[in-house]
Amino acid sequence: MTAIAYRAEILAVPEDPLRAGAEAIRHHPDGLLVVEDGIVAACGDHADLAGRFANVPTERLAGILVPGFVDTHIHYPQTERIASHGEQLLQWLDRHIFPAEAAFADRAHADAIAAFFLDELLRNGTTTALVYPTVHPQSVDALFEAALARGMRIVSGKVLMDLGPADLRDTVAGGRADSEALVARWRGRGRLGYAVTPRFALTSTDAQLEDAGRLVAAHPDVLMHTHLAENRGEIAAVAARFPHAADYLDVYDRFGLVGDRSVFAHCVHLDARARNRMAAAGAGIAFCATSNMFLGSGLFDLAATDAAGIKIGIGTDVGAGTSFSILHTLGEAYKVCQLRGQVLDPFRALYLATAGGARTLNLGDRIGGLRPGQEADFVLLDPAATPLLARRTAGASIADTLFALQILGDDRAVAATYVAGRRALSPSRSAACR
Ligand code: GUN
Ligand code: ZN
Repeated sequence: MTAIAYRAEILAVPEDPLRAGAEAIRHHPDGLLVVEDGIVAACGDHADLAGRFANVPTERLAGILVPGFVDTHIHYPQTERIASHGEQLLQWLDRHIFPAEAAFADRAHADAIAAFFLDELLRNGTTTALVYPTVHPQSVDALFEAALARGMRIVSGKVLMDLGPADLRDTVAGGRADSEALVARWRGRGRLGYAVTPRFALTSTDAQLEDAGRLVAAHPDVLMHTHLAENRGEIAAVAARFPHAADYLDVYDRFGLVGDRSVFAHCVHLDARARNRMAAAGAGIAFCATSNMFLGSGLFDLAATDAAGIKIGIGTDVGAGTSFSILHTLGEAYKVCQLRGQVLDPFRALYLATAGGARTLNLGDRIGGLRPGQEADFVLLDPAATPLLARRTAGASIADTLFALQILGDDRAVAATYVAGRRALSPSRSAACR
């Protein structure tokens, strides 16, 4: 057994402060995190734990140690199309995104982007993500191979889109066969998980949506991942195609795609019926603040989501999202809440970015809280990463420091990322990138 301990200021929010209150916040100004074979053996005050683990080699880390970030919605093939100008969702997809995704028929291209993408996640402190690849099964192989090499907990699955553009289209039977083969090939390997991924209602026939429902039912260990109620033009097109559905969510529901393993990105335009149905089904939402503003989609309603009791995490949604940084995304989420007259507390924000995201991906037992028995994915934040941050956080409380990191921080504030207890990027690469 390999054991190592890290002594640092430690902060984790394993429970939702909305329900658990201040009890949810675990702050150890002089803390100790003990890791055995990549799993948290103990986490608490150094003074309480030092005696019990006196024989374990201990490294001192400068900065604030927090759980690794969880990105509940992101597209790796869109990495190079981030910051593409001038359109809302449906036109942006046609003009910028579909042509870029067609290039992933080439496995070598997929390998190169997957490697860059995962290193970018790590550089930003993200250790787990629910990821869209493309329609091509080899795009999933490329991502999973690269994630396996890095020991990362990544969930993904071939995009289903038999109504897509000609060079990005599958078929019901082909999509099913490719998905089954990928589930069989990757099940149980490393820390990977599979998600049945119909792109959205408009890019699949009824037959494919129905088959996706069958696929989810046939494999109790997979997630279902799609987009929902993002943009008004999209919603109008869905309503025109499915006149008998109560609303957009009901389209997915009729095909068996709404359950406790479902994760829906965006959900900007939902009413009470849909929210209540999502809560009753145990479905989750990815709140994608930078993307919703970049594409002009709208302001997500966090208070209504919380009032309904829906599971929720944070998504960057790169390439519509404008940053890989979950810290930066939390800053934008704060502003979205301000525009709605709501207030996002910094500890709640950290919960959403860690344990809340983990729960949304049904991984709450494995990651997100630095609880004993959980996987030891964590990030070291540097509250003095920039001259401005250093000045703003000097002598500040932990709440104030955390908030400043969310408003002013980004990849520069991530001093190091640890995956299963080990530092993920070589110091030279981290240094070169900062
Ligand atoms: N809806 C369907 N496809 C996409 C996509 O690639 N990005 C976003 N933001 N929304 C979508
Ligand atoms: Zn998306």
